[in-house]
Amino acid sequence: MARIVKHTAQGPYKLECGGEDKYICRCGLSKNQPFCDGSHKLTNGEEEGKLYWYDDVGNRHESADGFAGIRQN
Ligand code: FES
Repeated sequence: MARIVKHTAQGPYKLECGGEDKYICRCGLSKNQPFCDGSHKLTNGEEEGKLYWYDDVGNRHESADGFAGIRQN
């Protein structure tokens, strides 16, 4: 089973936990969920109004379908 969820954030959410800074992934690309692993840097250069998807090795692809109305995180 799979689903498509649109993420627009291009950086993590920082929170303090037990006196330590933690970074929570908001871009959806981290391979260490729920924590940021720096993969959000792949989103640099994304253009407004376009929809992209990323493969397992980090290559960016532009979606041919805009998925209008897709749920957004
Ligand atoms: S915010 Fe997703 S990897 Fe950093």
